[in-house]
Amino acid sequence: MTDPVIDFYDTLSPFYKENMGWDWVAGLKREAEVLTQFLNRRMESEGPYKLLDCTCGTGTQAIGLALHGHTVHATDLSPGSIEEAAKEASTLGAQMTFGVANYFSLEESISDTFDVVLSCDNSIAHCVEDGNLVTAFSSMKTRLTSGGLVLVSLRDYAPLIEEKPRFTSTHVEDRPDGRRLAFQVWDWEDGDRTYRNHQFLIKETDGEYNVHHFETRLRALRRDEMLAAMEEAGYKNIRWHTPEESGYYQPIVTAYNK
Ligand SMILES: C[S@@+](CC[C@H](N)C(=O)[O-])C[C@H]1O[C@@H](n2cnc3c(N)ncnc32)[C@H](O)[C@@H]1O
Repeated sequence: MTDPVIDFYDTLSPFYKENMGWDWVAGLKREAEVLTQFLNRRMESEGPYKLLDCTCGTGTQAIGLALHGHTVHATDLSPGSIEEAAKEASTLGAQMTFGVANYFSLEESISDTFDVVLSCDNSIAHCVEDGNLVTAFSSMKTRLTSGGLVLVSLRDYAPLIEEKPRFTSTHVEDRPDGRRLAFQVWDWEDGDRTYRNHQFLIKETDGEYNVHHFETRLRALRRDEMLAAMEEAGYKNIRWHTPEESGYYQPIVTAYNK
């Protein structure tokens, strides 16, 4: 049986950087700078740190953090994303290791433990079923050293659960090789808990427009359910950090394996 999440990211990964609408390399360096400063404030010891990015995708956080001097092992469920990330790491000269792993069962694929396990850019919202969050956070905890930190960033869903937007994240970019447009359509289901996220990328080539469509299911995670799941997974000192506090573009949740 194929996994719809793997299908989604294997198909999307070659387009991922185009879908973002910003200079990806500049962005990954900026993200690494912000995350490193944040980690230096949250960790008891000085960096550089030994990090596991368990949802690295094409490497947006992992590659920048490796270039920043951290020791990074980067994993993801999608082999296609890992392939793209490894290519980018080699192009950018980042020394790091990669592997395919499911964040519900990291202990099956990774034997090492890390100072920090991170999962950024709403990857956790793929926990669509009740109980998934506790399984994912427990699995991440098995890969942490004693005193290690888990760091998870996600969309701020509180206003979105209220508004239930249908249309979001638009951008238009006029490139020398043609225009790019990207937007998402959200189909809400199961009350306010899950939605089908349709991502559209429209590429212009020689005046012709081609539409690429990718679809996945996500859960609009509430702050209280994130914190409760971390508590159930046995973490200590669980904290929610706003973008104003962390400097990162999404809310971050951190907690310790103590
Ligand atoms: C929105 S992308 C973010 C990727 C990367 N962190 C970034 O910012 O570009 C979400 C990633 O989570 C990964 N993912 C989803 N479910 C997963 C799971 N169960 N185990 C590991 N990775 C998963 C996807 O394959 C995808 O690469």
